[in-house]
Amino acid sequence: MDTIIREISDTIEDAETFLTAGEIIKNGGLVAFPTETVYGLGGDALNPASSQKIYAAKGRPSDNPLIVHIACMEDLPAIVKEIPDTARKLADAFWPGPLTMIFEKSDLVPKETTGGLETVAVRMPSDPAALAFIKEAGGYVAAPSANLSGKPSPTSAKYVEQDMLGRIDMILDGGDVEIGLESTIVDLTSENPMILRPGYVTKEMLEAELGLIDLDKTMMNKDTGAAPKAPGMKYRHYAPKGDLSIVEGEDEKVVSYINVQTALLEAEGAKVGIIATDENQEKYCAKIIMSAGSKTREEMIAHELYRILREFDDLDVTYIYAESFDTSGMGQAIMNRLLKAAGHKVVHV
Ligand code: TXA
Ligand code: MG
Repeated sequence: MDTIIREISDTIEDAETFLTAGEIIKNGGLVAFPTETVYGLGGDALNPASSQKIYAAKGRPSDNPLIVHIACMEDLPAIVKEIPDTARKLADAFWPGPLTMIFEKSDLVPKETTGGLETVAVRMPSDPAALAFIKEAGGYVAAPSANLSGKPSPTSAKYVEQDMLGRIDMILDGGDVEIGLESTIVDLTSENPMILRPGYVTKEMLEAELGLIDLDKTMMNKDTGAAPKAPGMKYRHYAPKGDLSIVEGEDEKVVSYINVQTALLEAEGAKVGIIATDENQEKYCAKIIMSAGSKTREEMIAHELYRILREFDDLDVTYIYAESFDTSGMGQAIMNRLLKAAGHKVVHV
């Protein structure tokens, strides 16, 4: 299949492009598009065949449900059974934006889109290009992240091309995304709202609207024995090619542990990459060092993490050592993704 690639810069100037992309979706095809979190791989959420195509293009297990993206609040009632007050409050506060909410689904949404579940995940992104595209596509776009299953989510169109060229009909290239980590997911179908996946909208921000919120216990720990409530969180996502370890402890000890390991591995001919912070970057002696930013700027670290993992893949790095990050605020989302990428391999020094 030939994949059309179109750069987009302005939602008005690019009206023609959105029209073409929308037609492709209405005809059952697939289009990758930018959102403020990561790139999405879109298909018609109400067409079972489109959802099946999405699973095939990603190589994703079909029990892992898709998020339905909408462009306006008026389109929500048709796809859900009811809109709880909690959802209205969160929509007022965070939509359009990087928050996904789980509802009981209506009959309009096929089981192929929800991975067989009676619930549906819905998000209204804030990226103007995403909104323009969703409108032209008929209002309901099912979209997982636009990566091959098991790869880091794409934060720029060039990574979508790496994974999806020849597998989908079109890629809308809107440059680098703003946030760089996937949306926060909140389940509003249980009695108490529960965070299933941490993201840019933090627990503290949600609690400011709703009061105390539960966290899915499986989120940060490896062996709780329970299945995660978001089916996708059970898979080892975001896996880099290299063997990734997170090193936790005081800065000096972390740096010296990593330097010793690096020296041993490089002596054996291995290629070692370090995910560092601005504060410590200069202290490492590995050949490949990438800083994710300053420890004090979580947003920067979130933005850089997937890019660095992808670059290490391109460089065929065989071992990766990452510093550990604070888990307050957005740090929780960063550590959740990093722990998954590392298969929970953490060294305490
Ligand atoms: O930021 C994002 O959310 C991006 C952009 C493209 O919007 N999308 C994204 O989709 O990250 P995906 O498919 O990579 O991750 C969706 C997650 C999966 O872990 C899935 O299991 C969970 O959402 N999910 C979807 N529907 C669900 C449902 N009904 N109940 C529980 N979890 C659900
Ligand atoms: Mg994903």
